[in-house]
Amino acid sequence: MDENAIRFMLFFGLWVLSPCLSQEYHVVNERKSWTEAQRYCREMYIDLVTINSTEDMDKVKQHLGSNTDEFWIGLFGDVNNWKWSLEKDGFYEKGQADLRLWNTGEPNNHDYNFLCVDTQPSSRWSDYMCNDKRPFVCYNDSPSNYSYVKNAMNWTDAQQYCRANYTDLASVRNVSENNAISQIIDQYAWIGMYKESWRWSDGQRLRMTSYSNWNVSQSVNVNNFCVTTKTTAWNIRPCSSTYPFICSRSPDIIKRQVVKLIVSKSGSSLDLEVNQDAILHQLSRSLQKHGLGEVKLKWRKQSDGKTFHLKKKEDTKKDRV
Ligand SMILES: *[C@@H]1O[C@H](CO)[C@@H](O)[C@H](O)[C@H]1NC(C)=O
Ligand SMILES: *[C@@H]1O[C@H](CO)[C@@H](O)[C@H](O)[C@H]1NC(C)=O
Ligand SMILES: *[C@@H]1O[C@H](CO)[C@@H](O)[C@H](O)[C@H]1NC(C)=O
Ligand SMILES: *[C@@H]1O[C@H](CO)[C@@H](O)[C@H](O)[C@H]1NC(C)=O
Ligand SMILES: *[C@@H]1O[C@H](CO)[C@@H](O)[C@H](O)[C@H]1NC(C)=O
Ligand SMILES: *[C@@H]1O[C@H](CO)[C@@H](O)[C@H](O)[C@H]1NC(C)=O
Repeated sequence: MDENAIRFMLFFGLWVLSPCLSQEYHVVNERKSWTEAQRYCREMYIDLVTINSTEDMDKVKQHLGSNTDEFWIGLFGDVNNWKWSLEKDGFYEKGQADLRLWNTGEPNNHDYNFLCVDTQPSSRWSDYMCNDKRPFVCYNDSPSNYSYVKNAMNWTDAQQYCRANYTDLASVRNVSENNAISQIIDQYAWIGMYKESWRWSDGQRLRMTSYSNWNVSQSVNVNNFCVTTKTTAWNIRPCSSTYPFICSRSPDIIKRQVVKLIVSKSGSSLDLEVNQDAILHQLSRSLQKHGLGEVKLKWRKQSDGKTFHLKKKEDTKKDRV
């Protein structure tokens, strides 16, 4: 029989998987160092877990249940990331954002979760804990000027005050700006530089305003330290210690549908069985184009291990598969 004259009907099953979108967790009960745990989570799931809300922490508690162990989470100590509060594009010329005018022996990087920078009439900087109340210096962009606010506030309240009434807390771009500030202050005063000492494995910073669940009775160490959680609180541990850990993983599949496709093929020598991955890829691409990128496709194998089943045209009416 002339092959070209026959239309072959090909039957195959197609899984259509559509996920829901919230973050899910997977607890791994194997002890690893923080770095090994991170690698494992990135290979097998998504990453070590990020906990940035009470809801996240509640979900973690549910997963741990009555387990009293400590588990690595994604938080790690990140040193030397001093930044200015004012991040406006074009405000700093090349190198100006990197100017540091520390006093001798500063920054002494007291191990606090957050550090903020003050200056003094001698015009040199030091780092201190951000919740201390001090006078502060605001910067106004136009006209360009510094203002000294004697009303003592902690660093975040000072930042809010400056942003509401001026441009931001003061940045210092060169020595002459530093001198201008030292001339208007009469005691230690906050400027705009600060450091957030912890970062999540997914890249997010633990901000001064972020959710946290620290064990407040521990001493804070940052350099080469990482963070575990229990159902109660977060503890700071050397990153090389080994603990079980919690990964974030793809959300559960909430809907799974089998779709049977009939493809008619005339005369082509394309081997569908061999090219099934390529065909699936094309189908996915075309779903993506139609805004259905969240839908995952998979072939369903028949009992004989094959995906495609050949059917002659005259058989189709009898509906035999
Ligand atoms: C919390 O973390 C998740 C996952 O990394 C992220 O999608 C979300 O934007 C974060 N939310 C906040 C408020 O930072
Ligand atoms: C500063 O004080 C406010 C209350 O006035 C508080 O909400 C905020 O967390 C404090 N900031 C720091 C860095 O301690
Ligand atoms: C700049 O600030 C100083 C002190 O706050 C003030 O005396 C001066 O008039 C201001 N200059 C301008 C141009 O606004
Ligand atoms: C702006 O400054 C005024 C005093 O000049 C103060 O009362 C007000 O609280 C400031 N705004 C903010 C949001 O801090
Ligand atoms: C300091 O930097 C500012 C901003 O770039 C610039 O306007 C000013 O001329 C500089 N001062 C000196 C003495 O270099
Ligand atoms: C908090 O830290 C202290 C000191 O390391 C420790 O004794 C205590 O068990 C910790 N509490 C929790 C809830 O982890």
